[in-house]
Amino acid sequence: MAAGHIPVLFHETLRLLAPAPGEVFLDGTTGAGGHAAEIAGRIGPGGLLVCADADPSMLEAAGERLGSFPWVRTVRSDFSDFAALREAAGGRRFDGMLLDLGISSLQMDDPSRGFAFRGEGPLDMRRDPGGGGTTAAEILRNAREKELADLFYGFGEERYSRRIARAVVERRRREPIRTTTELAELVAKAIPRKGWPRGIHPATRVFQALRIAVNRELESLAAFLEAFPEHLSPGGRVAVISFHSLEDRLVKTAFRRHERGAEGKGGTLRLLTRKPVVPAERESRENPRARSAKLRAARKELPEEEST
Ligand SMILES: C[S@@+](CC[C@H](N)C(=O)[O-])C[C@H]1O[C@@H](n2cnc3c(N)ncnc32)[C@H](O)[C@@H]1O
Repeated sequence: MAAGHIPVLFHETLRLLAPAPGEVFLDGTTGAGGHAAEIAGRIGPGGLLVCADADPSMLEAAGERLGSFPWVRTVRSDFSDFAALREAAGGRRFDGMLLDLGISSLQMDDPSRGFAFRGEGPLDMRRDPGGGGTTAAEILRNAREKELADLFYGFGEERYSRRIARAVVERRRREPIRTTTELAELVAKAIPRKGWPRGIHPATRVFQALRIAVNRELESLAAFLEAFPEHLSPGGRVAVISFHSLEDRLVKTAFRRHERGAEGKGGTLRLLTRKPVVPAERESRENPRARSAKLRAARKELPEEEST
């Protein structure tokens, strides 16, 4: 596998999901198809793997890798759209579901998408640029100063959110902020040097916040987490890999809620990970993207377990 395309927490995820021959699986975040190819190989020709991604260019990229598995169906869909996902599965429930959140390195490394500050590109950041919706540039142009500050703080946990919001508003009075590098420089200047985070670019949190807002990432995740147990077959497993505390908090509380059930009477879900699984030191060293990864997994009980 090419460097940078190594699926995060690969072995740990596969161990917890335990795909078996003949099973029906969902990869809700197909990306470059690294996890998906392994799942497809394990479920084999008697199984079915629904591979979803909201970004059509990722499905195209993954298609090349997954083309040798006729039991894979790709679908351009948000992972919270269970109507579309179940339809792709021929109405069947899933024996396993995987979400590996965020964006892939292929998206990150393409300057025309506007996700990263290293190469110069337009401030787009939409997961599906052909699908309408608001771009990061539009948010920076139209949001009020307080809205920007709340967004940088709420979705980026950026301590200097107010200063950065003020700098954005001052700049846009003179001229629009057009490119990723213009924004990155503006943010770096707005944060006092002593406040720069260690090990990451000073604009990282602002870029994360804008990406989350543009793609309504937390809304999609919350909708998935509310609905997934109904679409999991008894004994089915779910695994979610998240990359920042906002996502992990949603996953943790949703899993616990489904475990407790309505009015605390006991739900249908059993946690497979009490604490999140994190990458070994070696993986973090070799793959910077893995550093903040957290994996949580759970299993839907079998009917006989429910009565005990
Ligand atoms: C980190 S990558 C997945 C990498 C993949 N596991 C692999 O092994 O190559 C995340 C992918 O999920 C997609 N994605 C993120 N949020 C999504 C959502 N709400 N609905 C559908 N796809 C989404 C992104 O477009 C991206 O391609």
